[in-house]
Amino acid sequence: MVDLSVKYMGFKLRSPLILGSCALTKDIDKLQQAEEAGFGAVVLKSIFEEEIRHEVNAVVDDETALMYRQAYDYMTHYQEMASSSKYLDLIKNATEKLSIPVIASVNCATPSGWTKYAKMIQDAGAKALEINYFILPASFEHDADFYYDSYLELVENLKNTITIPFALKVSTYFTDMAHFLQKLSYTGVSSLVIFNRFHAPDINIDKLEFASTNSLGNEYELSNTLRWTGLLSGNLRCDLSATTGVHDSKGLIKLLLAGANSVQAASVFYQKGIGYGSTMLIEMKDWMEKHGYNSVDEFRGLMSYKKVENPDSYFRIQFMKHMAGIE
Ligand SMILES: Cc1cc2nc3c(=O)[nH]c(=O)nc-3n(C[C@H](O)[C@H](O)[C@H](O)COP(=O)(O)O)c2cc1C
Repeated sequence: MVDLSVKYMGFKLRSPLILGSCALTKDIDKLQQAEEAGFGAVVLKSIFEEEIRHEVNAVVDDETALMYRQAYDYMTHYQEMASSSKYLDLIKNATEKLSIPVIASVNCATPSGWTKYAKMIQDAGAKALEINYFILPASFEHDADFYYDSYLELVENLKNTITIPFALKVSTYFTDMAHFLQKLSYTGVSSLVIFNRFHAPDINIDKLEFASTNSLGNEYELSNTLRWTGLLSGNLRCDLSATTGVHDSKGLIKLLLAGANSVQAASVFYQKGIGYGSTMLIEMKDWMEKHGYNSVDEFRGLMSYKKVENPDSYFRIQFMKHMAGIE
């Protein structure tokens, strides 16, 4: 009997496939569909401090703030609680109704927001948290250390505030990615999640306006995730969850071969429905049987940088005739 279970963030997941944080993970019925489909865990849609602030400001305007300072503080607090309670209720509800681990997710805009929301999420019953953290390094005044320090400070503050395990979901915007992600893995985070997808600008060339891009990804994005999963796995003190570009069972298997402890996907389930997760897992089981693997641990990391005899492919970045084979 093939065993799909893996260990991730201190949990035993029945399968390595996780439904990543996105709008599909904000409704209880969709989360239950994910459980039925065989996902090992779900990451809830992030709660965004900025969005909550926006809702608060819509109710409590600046004029009221100036005239009634005390009332303003009270109303702000009241509205903030009202706005965040929807999310906290989702955590409670999902944790109660699902038997697979429910990982909450948060994104904050202020230093105090991170600890405040993380604590609220823990108090609502979340068993684990994913930190959706990213500052665009677009400032001309700050050097890399400024950004790096903010990551390290955030982790320190979270460690002093919550006791549940937390993962750090990161971007590719690091100068010395291998070095810094390894450093982060030694800070006490339970896992690194590589890599997040961000909203990107586009320009409508007829209207000369900014346009919104398609937020769904494609399978061509997998190779970057694969490279960094292969390079990092076996070199970190914490778990590694790989995401971005997984659109089928092959992508899932490749990232496990590269050494991921778990694999998250979102876009493909917008396109094919949450039930497609079950197809991916059946295909992965078939592949394991075909290759004689009884458990994920038997093949996880076999193709990582540390394990393969000739890991050059992970480093090769220039197209050359004999590598690309298309000239
Ligand atoms: C529509 C949409 C909404 C998303 N919302 C969030 C979010 O709230 N928080 C978060 O950490 N990631 C969010 N993500 C990123 C996904 O969790 C995932 O990391 C990313 O899309 C890469 O996986 P994919 O290639 O399978 O889409 C979102 C992705 C999509 C497509």
